[in-house]
Amino acid sequence: MCGIVGYIGRSNAREIIVTGLERLEYRGYDSAGLTVFNDKKNTFDIFKDIGRVSILKETTKQVLSRVGIGHTRWATHGKVTALNAHPHTSSSGRFIIVHNGVIENFQQLKDQYLKLASFKSDTDTEVVAHLIEGFASYMTVENAILTTLKLLHGSYALLIVDQQDPDTIYAAKNKPPLLVGVSEDGVTITSDVLALAGVSKNYHVMEDKTFVVAKKDEVKLYNYDHEALELNWQKVNVDVTQTEKGNFDHFMLKEINEQPGVIRRIISEYFTGYKSNIDSRLLKTIKESERIYILAAGTSMHAGLIGKYFFEKLAGKPVEVHIASEFAYHMPLLVSKPFFILISQSGETADLRACLLKLKQFKYQTLTVTNVITSTLAREADFKLEIFAGPEIAVASTKAYIAQMAVLALIAYELSAKLFDIKMELAKVAQAIENFLFDPTPIKALVEKVFIKEHAFYIGRGMDYALALEGALKLKEISYIHTEGFAAGELKHGTIALIEEGTPVVAIISEEEMNMNTRSNLHEVKSRGAVSIIITMDSLKQKGDDIILDDVYPILAPLLMIVPTQMIAYFAALDRGYDIDKPRNLAKSVTVE
Ligand code: F6R
Repeated sequence: MCGIVGYIGRSNAREIIVTGLERLEYRGYDSAGLTVFNDKKNTFDIFKDIGRVSILKETTKQVLSRVGIGHTRWATHGKVTALNAHPHTSSSGRFIIVHNGVIENFQQLKDQYLKLASFKSDTDTEVVAHLIEGFASYMTVENAILTTLKLLHGSYALLIVDQQDPDTIYAAKNKPPLLVGVSEDGVTITSDVLALAGVSKNYHVMEDKTFVVAKKDEVKLYNYDHEALELNWQKVNVDVTQTEKGNFDHFMLKEINEQPGVIRRIISEYFTGYKSNIDSRLLKTIKESERIYILAAGTSMHAGLIGKYFFEKLAGKPVEVHIASEFAYHMPLLVSKPFFILISQSGETADLRACLLKLKQFKYQTLTVTNVITSTLAREADFKLEIFAGPEIAVASTKAYIAQMAVLALIAYELSAKLFDIKMELAKVAQAIENFLFDPTPIKALVEKVFIKEHAFYIGRGMDYALALEGALKLKEISYIHTEGFAAGELKHGTIALIEEGTPVVAIISEEEMNMNTRSNLHEVKSRGAVSIIITMDSLKQKGDDIILDDVYPILAPLLMIVPTQMIAYFAALDRGYDIDKPRNLAKSVTVE
C-alpha cells in the first residue's frame, strides 16, 4: 500500500521518481506527490494533489533536479485530499518525508511530544517529520531520525530529506518493503524492484529496523543503534516490457491472456524432464507433518481453498485454510506437528506477516508460495516457492491466482502416488484456456444482456464452491456489482430470499458427482426469477448451457473453470466504463493490517 521512490544522483530525479511511481501505482492511486530540490531557489519544492500519477507528471514536467522523493497514496489516515497527500513536512518545513505504512501510536506521540505543534494534515505520517525536527534542534540529523524511529510503533517505509542538506536521502523501514538500488549514475530507494528497472544495476533489500543514509555515490546502512551493517547486493533483473500493456486495452485483459504461458512456464521451471525440482527437504517436512495449515488473504486465500482439495484428494493430507487476518490474532488449536503454507502474490501482505512472526516464535515450519521471491514473506519463511506469474499490474489478481493453484497442485502431486502425468495434464489446461480465450465475444454479449442488476451470485459445490467465491470477488471488485459466492446447496437455507426477477446466478459445474445437484439448485432460483448462467465442461454439458469448456483432468479443472469468471468481471466493468486496472478504494500489496 502506497508506493515510494527517492532518487539522488546525476540524472533527472523527477523523471526517475515519476516513472517509478507510475510503475508502483498498483500500490495506491488516490493521490500522488513529490519533492525535488530546486537549485535556483536553494530549496526543496513540493508538488502534491489528489488523483493519479499522470496528473503529477503533467504538473511537474518542467522540473529538473538531482534529488527528490515521491509517493503514490492509498489513504489510511485522513481523507483523500491534497493536504493529506504525501510528502509531509515538519513544522518549519525543514524535514520532508514520504511514508508507506501506519504509525499506530501517532496520537500518543502527538500528546506526549508535540502538544504545541500545529498539524497541516490528518495523517499519522506528519508526526514523524515533526519529531525529527524537534530532536534535530539538539542532536545530529542522523541521531534525530534514529531517536524518532525508536519511538514509532507500527509499520513504515520512510524516505526523508532535509532542506539544509540536499545531498542526502535518509531511509528506514519496519514491515513494508524498501529496496536501495545503485548504478554509476546514482541511488534509487523504492518499494518495489519494478521502479529500479532500467535505473539501477544492483539492489539491496532492507531488513526491518535498518536505516540508510544515501548520497549520490555512497550508501551507508545502519541498525537503530547506529552500528554500520553490510549491504547485500543482488542484480536488478526485471523486464520492463512486462510492465507495459502491449496490444491490450487493459493490464487485466493482458494478464488473463498470459495465463496459458504462465502455466507452461511453471511446468518448465519445476521440471527437468519428468523429475520435479521441488526441494526434497520441503516434501519430507510436509510428509512428516500431521496437518497443513494454509494461510492467506483474498484471492490467495481462494487459491488456498483449492489447494486444500489438491492436498486432501491427491496426497491424503488434511488441510485447514485460514484467513490470515483472523489467524494472526485467533490462532486455533493446532495439531502437535503442523506445517504452514503462506500464499501471497506480493509476499508483503501485512496480515500474513503478522501470522509468520507468530509462527516463528513457536518455531513452526513454514513455506511461502509467492510471485516475489525476494519479498519479506519469502525471505522469512523456512521454505519458499516462486509461482513465476511475472509482474501482475492489474489490481484484480488473475494470473497469480492460477499460478498459485498450479504450484500447490505440483506440491500435492509430488506427495501423491502420481497416478497421472501432471505435466501433460497442465499443458492440456493451458491449451483449453487458449481455446476459450480465442473468441470472447459471446461472453461480452452475455454479460451486457444479463449483468444489469445491482446484485449477482456465483454458486458451486466442492472445488466449484471455492471458485464461486473467487468469481464473486472478481466481479464485485472491478464492476462494483454486489456479488456473493455461495455453496450451491446453501442458498435455499436463507439467502434465496434475495433472488428477484432478473438476478444473475452463475453456476460453476466441473465435478460430475455434483452436476445434477447444482442444476437442481439452479432450478430453485430460476423458478424465483433468477437468470441462470452455467459454466461447465464438455463431458458434463446439457442443452442450453452457456459456457462450455474443453474437458481437462478433473482435479485440475479449477485452473480452467475460473477463466470465464475473470472475463465476466472484465466485461461487466468494461460495460460500466470503470477503471478496470485500478478499481476504487483498492490497492495491490496490502502492507497495512
Ligand atoms: C484480489 C486480490 C486480493 C489479494 C489479497 C492478498 O484480486 O488480488 O484479494 O489476493 O490482497 O494479496 P497477496 O496475494 O499479495 O498476499
